[in-house]
Amino acid sequence: MRASTISGMAMATGLAMALFSAPMAASASIANGKALYEANCAMCHGKTGEVSDYGKKLKPFPARNHRALAQYVSRDELRRIITYGVKGTAMTPKKYTLDPLEIEEVIDYIQSFDYKPNLANGKKRFKAVCASCHGIDGRAITGVGAKNLVYTKLDLKGIVHTMRYGRPGTMMTSKRHQLKNTDIADIANYVYELRYMANPAKGKKLFAKNCVSCHSTPAKIKLIGNAASKRNIADLDDRLLDLRIRHGRHVDRAGKKVDKLSADNIQDIIAYMRKYKN
Ligand code: HEC
Ligand code: HEC
Ligand code: HEC
Repeated sequence: MRASTISGMAMATGLAMALFSAPMAASASIANGKALYEANCAMCHGKTGEVSDYGKKLKPFPARNHRALAQYVSRDELRRIITYGVKGTAMTPKKYTLDPLEIEEVIDYIQSFDYKPNLANGKKRFKAVCASCHGIDGRAITGVGAKNLVYTKLDLKGIVHTMRYGRPGTMMTSKRHQLKNTDIADIANYVYELRYMANPAKGKKLFAKNCVSCHSTPAKIKLIGNAASKRNIADLDDRLLDLRIRHGRHVDRAGKKVDKLSADNIQDIIAYMRKYKN
């Protein structure tokens, strides 16, 4: 009783302060967002962001878990979906019931949700849904144009975005209706864990052994075919650099040395080349 009176007072003061001082604004906004969320969203998305029984039964698609989505989707994307809805589903546009400020408050509240990813489930789902193209180990040797996920530069949000929307015109189709948000979050974290951590110190040794005979230092490497434009290795991303090292025109001379390097070795060398300072 006493505790609740104190916290009630603390909340009242907090609210009063929030009205006048900027640093408190976020928490006041979350409180408003919570109330708006409970009134307008909880019926389908559940009070805690975990889909309600009612939301699970909706057709053609059930409501989606916000808890597992909150940290992986950008504010812009949330704003777009909430404002305009998702056509042909029970997610109608909310711009007629909430004003733009209220939508921001609801987003603040959604973004306060957290979720602990389940890597074991991520692994299981990855095997079932992704491995046919990306390979069990994520290294994409299946020959359908799938990208190697072990070397991807995408952050968690980027991986989630790719899963949600796919890559138009490729075999990477949207998985949004095939997978629940919890599965998407679990798989994304699993994919992130698969990442190869390139080791520049190892790369330095490999460079000394295999490259130095022709390139005294990484900085001395001249890119082929752009004598005029002065581009250097910093202008190429890792994937292009990897292609030039493994298949570039120097290979007719450096072939023997390059052939015995594994893909991971090349990543190490690239990491060293990037770190190298004159
Ligand atoms: C009548 C049920 C219902 C209500 C109320 C509702 N939603 Fe939805 N919502 C859905 C459904 C169903 C989907 C899934 C649409 C789809 O499959 O594309 C959805 C999807 C979403 C998504 C996208 C989730 C994802 O994983 O892509 C967001 C964000 C969202 N709703 C936010 C809200 C917010 C915020 C509110 C309240 C202001 C709200 N919704 C109210 C049914 C509802
Ligand atoms: C039918 C084959 C197929 C399946 C199944 C598939 N993908 Fe892909 N994926 C692709 C292709 C092809 C690309 C390359 C698209 C491009 O060229 O941008 C790709 C690209 C990606 C990328 C972008 C990598 C980067 O660095 O740009 C990610 C991330 C990804 N897939 C994750 C997944 C996950 C996770 C799953 C399972 C939920 C999955 N994919 C299932 C074919 C597939
Ligand atoms: C036998 C000599 C030789 C060896 C060994 C060699 N290279 Fe080269 N490499 C060349 C020549 C010649 C070029 C053409 C440009 C120049 O003269 O710098 C070149 C060009 C390159 C380029 C630019 C390719 C392009 O298509 O623009 C890269 C990147 C490169 N080398 C990386 C490496 C790395 C990394 C190693 C070690 C794994 C290596 N090279 C080993 C001879 C060699």
